[in-house]
Amino acid sequence: MDVADGLTIRVPGDKSITQRALILGAMAAGESRIGAAPRAADPVATALALRGLGVPIDGLDGPATTPLRIGGVGLRGWQQPRSPLDLRNSGTGARLLAGALAAQPLPVVLSGDESLSRRPMGRIAAPLRRMGATVEYLGRDGVLPMRVTGGALRTIRHDGSVASAQVKSAILLAAVGAGVPVEVREPRRSRDHSERMLEAMGVRVREGWRDGAWAVRIDEPPARLAPLQMDVPGDFSSAAFFLAWAALAGTRPLTIRDVGLNATRTGLLPVLARMGAEVEAVGGGAAGGEPAGDLLVGAPGSGLRGVEVGGGEVTGMIDEIPVLAVLAARADGETRITGAAELRVKESDRLAALAVNLRRIGVDVEELPDGLVIEGTRRPLAGRVECFHDHRIAMAFGVLSGAPDCDILVDDPGVADVSFPGFWRLLARLTDEAGGPEHLPSAARRSGRAPGEPARSTVVAIDGSAGAGKSTTAAAVASRLGFRHLDSGAIYRAVTLGLMDSEVGSEAVERVTPDELEALAVEVRWTDAGMGIRIRGKPVPEKALRAERVTAMVSRVSAVPAVRDHLLELQRAAVRPPGLVAEGRDMGTVVFPAADVKVYLDADPRERARRRILQRGESDPTPEEIEAEAARLGMRDRTDSSRKVAPLLMAADAHLINTTGMKPRSQTDAIVKLAIRAACGRQPSRRSGESD
Ligand code: S3P
Repeated sequence: MDVADGLTIRVPGDKSITQRALILGAMAAGESRIGAAPRAADPVATALALRGLGVPIDGLDGPATTPLRIGGVGLRGWQQPRSPLDLRNSGTGARLLAGALAAQPLPVVLSGDESLSRRPMGRIAAPLRRMGATVEYLGRDGVLPMRVTGGALRTIRHDGSVASAQVKSAILLAAVGAGVPVEVREPRRSRDHSERMLEAMGVRVREGWRDGAWAVRIDEPPARLAPLQMDVPGDFSSAAFFLAWAALAGTRPLTIRDVGLNATRTGLLPVLARMGAEVEAVGGGAAGGEPAGDLLVGAPGSGLRGVEVGGGEVTGMIDEIPVLAVLAARADGETRITGAAELRVKESDRLAALAVNLRRIGVDVEELPDGLVIEGTRRPLAGRVECFHDHRIAMAFGVLSGAPDCDILVDDPGVADVSFPGFWRLLARLTDEAGGPEHLPSAARRSGRAPGEPARSTVVAIDGSAGAGKSTTAAAVASRLGFRHLDSGAIYRAVTLGLMDSEVGSEAVERVTPDELEALAVEVRWTDAGMGIRIRGKPVPEKALRAERVTAMVSRVSAVPAVRDHLLELQRAAVRPPGLVAEGRDMGTVVFPAADVKVYLDADPRERARRRILQRGESDPTPEEIEAEAARLGMRDRTDSSRKVAPLLMAADAHLINTTGMKPRSQTDAIVKLAIRAACGRQPSRRSGESD
């Protein structure tokens, strides 16, 4: 591959290898020196936990170019920590430390953040208990916080039902710490960083296939571990995001230097090749007993193809499924991923998180119990992505946000720091340097708020004539963005109902007083299901709002100035981060005059008439029926726009979208795109419908 005019990057050191180096370094006899260790949140959490156990670690506050120095205290020299050890988001830290602690005669409590406290610990607790350690759950069964009290252990053979490097490593560390032989079998071969590092420290590890399982054995654990001297190679799982970015959006070849190329980690490479990406690994190097080299990716040619990935393949690319899924969204045809049930117990339920977010940006996806079926599309993609405290979900969609025709807002970009500090800066630099299509904005601006920045609300006001498609579109836009949907029409209907059933009655609605309105005690309540309205403390059912008598009366009630004034604050109070889609007739002019995006929907009267009739559940209307309904709508338009109170007006800074002949999905796409751009601080253009 000719990379002469290409771009070159490096990615932070491998987080899996660094965490092992920290823990094993702390068990070694003497000082270990670890170069190029990333200061990402996960390894830092593990390092701080080890400090809590009395292990001196120097250099942690320095940049990644400063080596870490770990003052190993020997196999069983850890001290009782003063408080629980908080592993934050790090599953590897928690599980591997639990293993190592099983050999230390100390009661130590391990805890974690919300995401880690949901992840299963039974898979390590069971074998560690069998070895003789005491593992107690202090909260819910099977999850952190838990107390590990170690001591003298016995030898076991563990037959794991899932391939897990964390489980395997925890058992190996316990056995080495306690000085007992051990055998771990797993159905597929998971990453072998612990085995390589143990070998480098003087432990003889035997491995191979036995009776259809991958078996790892330590027969004679040594009395001491030699300290480590190593440089951590770049993290293949971090590099994967940029392989994907280059295959999707790059305009020049990309070289990623000094990446770990351990074959138990690089399963994504053959899959990318099957998808039609031009990817090459130039190996030959080694770092800390790990193969390393450069990764080269050609600029995308004719596009990617969908692939099938399943069974044995998944273990070697377990952390790369999220980025594969976003690539699949842009590949031709279907991508089917199976055998990936383990993804449900990662930092988030990644299968669910991917399905929800892909749908939100407009991709068709089917969620299987153990995988996903993704239908690739070339349509523009737009929407707000929810990270679920998961760094890989954030970065996978980050990659897509840097690709052409994708307006994607990642809600919590800061979570990328768990494994990849500087991810957004690098993505922004690449998108800028790649000099891609002119409309490609900097990825940093697309990533929503910066880490630590308070959440802000984006308000999208959708006004328009009756039958222009406001309700359907507003609901779809809100769901794609994860925003609240304020249906102001429903509030006016609820008030109408309340007044009709009160002493005011139908006759006197025009003369209703502020006190009488106050007495209705109108409330808007928000649940996951959306907006609910209460009148005098009682929920108003949707069916009651749509009743004939309410429909006949609502335009009179909504024309009363006292009513409009009364509901103003109630509607404004609906704004909450990340945002609100407010739908009605004066959203952009009166209620939210400073809305971030204002849209005015209109359509040809005949088209609106046809939609209205179909909406009422009637069958395909005849031309005469359409004419009659169009005439009624025309009359309503004239009254609406000429009435004195809250006339139907288009705000001067609104985007006019004529929805005639437009599919609902395209209307939604257009508005979501405007909202994302506004949320990212970009000035959306004022042209109708599209904005590039
Ligand atoms: C890891 C092993 C994998 C992987 C995780 C890191 C490790 O987890 O998903 O990100 O460092 O051993 P499992 O062992 O649970 O599959």
